[in-house]
Amino acid sequence: MFDLIFRGANLPDGRKGMDIGIRSGRIAAIEKALEAEAGEVIDATGRLLSPAFCDPHFHMDATLSLGLPRMNVSGTLLEGIALWGELRPTLTREALVERALRYCDLAVSQGLLFIRSHVDTSDPRLVTAEALIEVRERVKPYITLQLVAFPQDGYYRAPEGVRALDRALDMGLDIVGGIPHFERTMEDGRRSLEALCRIAAERGLPVDIHCDETDDPLSRHVETLAAETIRHGLQGRVAGSHLTSMHSMDNYYVSKLIPLIAESQMNAIPNPLINIMLQGRHDTFPKRRGLTRVKEMMAAGVNVSLGQDCTMDPWYSMGSADMVEVAHMAVHVAQMGGIDEKRALFDAITVNSAKTMGIEGYGLAVGCNADLVLLQAADVTEAIRLKPVRLAVVKAGRVISRTPPRISQLFLEGRPGTVDGGRDFIPVAG
Ligand code: FE2
Repeated sequence: MFDLIFRGANLPDGRKGMDIGIRSGRIAAIEKALEAEAGEVIDATGRLLSPAFCDPHFHMDATLSLGLPRMNVSGTLLEGIALWGELRPTLTREALVERALRYCDLAVSQGLLFIRSHVDTSDPRLVTAEALIEVRERVKPYITLQLVAFPQDGYYRAPEGVRALDRALDMGLDIVGGIPHFERTMEDGRRSLEALCRIAAERGLPVDIHCDETDDPLSRHVETLAAETIRHGLQGRVAGSHLTSMHSMDNYYVSKLIPLIAESQMNAIPNPLINIMLQGRHDTFPKRRGLTRVKEMMAAGVNVSLGQDCTMDPWYSMGSADMVEVAHMAVHVAQMGGIDEKRALFDAITVNSAKTMGIEGYGLAVGCNADLVLLQAADVTEAIRLKPVRLAVVKAGRVISRTPPRISQLFLEGRPGTVDGGRDFIPVAG
């Protein structure tokens, strides 16, 4: 007897028509034609069942604040930071909590149940940290929310940057953040990485750095972060977010840098939606698009996961908590249109991100936590193409969101009928 059975599901690894039995919040069986009863049965015939999505890079303190106090006119990262600096002194805990909870509701409906959010610690009031700690507790039954102490205005550059980061970690934020390219000098950036990795080693915490989110081909903070990771014995516990300078770097230099990243076991977190929107803004034509070297890092064995970064905030006026949309953009910008490449990008929003975030019991195997999403798509490549409806979202074996399938009715002369989420148009699946 199971609590829940999905019947006839297709799985991300290509298995088709599988029954998944769930008991006591965990996956207890994965078989063809499972002979058992269940409290609830969901017909998943021909649909993709995936582990719930993970977003390893987000800013939940800024989300849904679009237009406050004004719009970003230039569209640049730097105007976004300046605009956030205007909004920040007016932030209240209540407003931050309300916006974050609304975003989490949206995330659940999209099958996104694991989120790592950076939390700006530049305002010494630390109202952002207070609010997000409250949100972390309130969403705990359905979303795993990790919080990074993030000195947005610079660890050394902000007047209270050093002390505020320490205080935020004392309050209970989970991860040490940084922004070396926003310090006053390259040398200050280097020193900040030294200090932040030391703090992480001393406190036993992971590290997640906004690292070289610039178009500067000569920026060297990625190299420093990898070296400091090794020096402090933090292998596997450090993430380099964005890494956009690598887009513009000299190829010879990168041929040395990527093996160093692999050696340090640094997790790479590109954010394709935001990178393509913000980078290259000082270029005329040709315009650089700023995405780091996804394919090349994957080929070198680096764990690459993809982040959403922003949804409706000073940096980005779009976004919908949809990690499939993030993978969809990565297909284009990283030029990864092959079937295996799309599978690799689906991994980047699921298993790779779970590894980056250190989520235990994640996956689609017997014994894993039953944190799942059923999509209106037949397989991974179709999911990335269609950005499909999340038919059901399950947390610890319990259905926590349902969305009806998208089915269009056609009223065409000679061709009346229905189209199921666009699937009629696929000549070959998988
Ligand atoms: Fe970010």
